[in-house]
Amino acid sequence: MEKLGAIFILFSLVIALSMGHVISRESNAEKIWFQNICRGKEKLTKLQFYVQDALGGPNATVWQVAEAAITANSRTAFGQVRVLDDLITVGPNRSSEALGRAQGLITSADLTVSGIAMNMNFYFTAGKYNGSTLCILGRNPIDENDRELPVVGGTGDFRMARGYSISNTYSYDPVANYGVLEYTVYVAVVEKSGYTAVSMI
Ligand SMILES: *[C@@H]1O[C@H](CO)[C@@H](O)[C@H](O)[C@H]1NC(C)=O
Ligand SMILES: *[C@@H]1O[C@H](CO)[C@@H](O)[C@H](O)[C@H]1NC(C)=O
Ligand SMILES: *[C@@H]1O[C@H](CO)[C@@H](O)[C@H](O)[C@H]1NC(C)=O
Repeated sequence: MEKLGAIFILFSLVIALSMGHVISRESNAEKIWFQNICRGKEKLTKLQFYVQDALGGPNATVWQVAEAAITANSRTAFGQVRVLDDLITVGPNRSSEALGRAQGLITSADLTVSGIAMNMNFYFTAGKYNGSTLCILGRNPIDENDRELPVVGGTGDFRMARGYSISNTYSYDPVANYGVLEYTVYVAVVEKSGYTAVSMI
C-alpha cells in the first residue's frame, strides 16, 4: 500500500513537472527577472516629485464619487469618497516637466481628525520610470507634516517594490482650491543591471 502511494506521488510529480514545462508561456526576460529576485539583488532608490492636486475649478482632477449620510455634518467630511487623476511634475510649478499621473481613491475615514484612507497608483509616463507604477496604500493625516504612507508594490521597474513615502503640502491656494503636494519615496526595488541567468537546480 505504502509503495503504491509512493508511486502515485512520483507519477503526479512527473505529470505536474511536464505540464509546467508545456504550459509555461514565461518569457526569457521574465525568468531572468525572477531569478534576480531569488538572488536578493535589491537596491534602495529615493524618488522626489510633486503632485498637482486640483480640488476645484473647471479643470479639477479630484472628484467626489460618494458620501455618507453623516458627511455634510461631519467636521472631517467622514464618508466622503473621491477619485483623483492628478498630474505628477518634476518641480512644484504645475508647468514644470510632467512625469505622470497620481490616480486612485481617497476616502475620509477618520471621525475626529482629518485622515484619509488612500489607495493610489503613481503612474509614470515619462522619465526613467516611464511605464511603471508605484502603489501606495495607507492612512494619510492630511493636516500633519511628513505624512508617511506605505509603498505596497508596483509594476515594471517597481515590481515587488516595498518602502514608504513622506509627503508634505508644498502650497495650497484656497481661492482656486489648488494644492501642490511634495512626495519623497524611499523604495527597495530589484536591481535591473547585471542580469545573468542562473540555474535554480
Ligand atoms: C483649464 O484648462 C484649459 C485647457 O488646458 C486652460 O485653457 C484653462 O486656462 C484652464 N483653466 C484653469 C482655471 O486653470
Ligand atoms: C511657473 O512657471 C511658469 C512658466 O515657466 C512661470 O511663468 C511662473 O512664474 C512659474 N510660477 C511660479 C510660482 O514659479
Ligand atoms: C514613454 O514610453 C512610451 C511607451 O514606450 C513611449 O511611447 C513614450 O514616448 C515615452 N514617453 C517619454 C516622455 O519618454
